[in-house]
Amino acid sequence: MALRNIRTEGDPILGKISKPVLEMNDKTKVLIGDMLETMYHANGVGLAAVQVGVLKRVVVIDVSEDGDSPIILINPEIVDKSGSQTGDEGCLSVPGKSGVVTRANHVKVKAFNEKMELFELEGDELLARAIQHEVDHLDGILYTSKVEGPIKTAED
Ligand code: NI
Repeated sequence: MALRNIRTEGDPILGKISKPVLEMNDKTKVLIGDMLETMYHANGVGLAAVQVGVLKRVVVIDVSEDGDSPIILINPEIVDKSGSQTGDEGCLSVPGKSGVVTRANHVKVKAFNEKMELFELEGDELLARAIQHEVDHLDGILYTSKVEGPIKTAED
């Protein structure tokens, strides 16, 4: 595995729509491993492939405290949303900043795993927020377009 360079706000690739993964291959396996390493190294809770410059619908998430529960979502599709949560959100592509975003508090997502087996996952609170944030990345959307009020910097 290797660390990949995280693209940051202003890089036009972050506004592009990622393409579905049609089959698992060595290149995509390496990508997933690199994305996990890059996310953990940056102390993030989620990363989309586009953030490392690859326009594939691949997301990695880990909202556990120990950072030992990676979730891999390939071609994720949110099929149900309910409730509401309003809170601070950040993004590895917008370093040192955060802003308040309202999201669904519960989501159900359908996705493929690394073996290209379809599965469903339900999540609440931080996991629900991370899923919605990362799926937005696959559609070229940054949380900064959804912020209510000012974007805060780390010093605020
Ligand atoms: Ni992000």
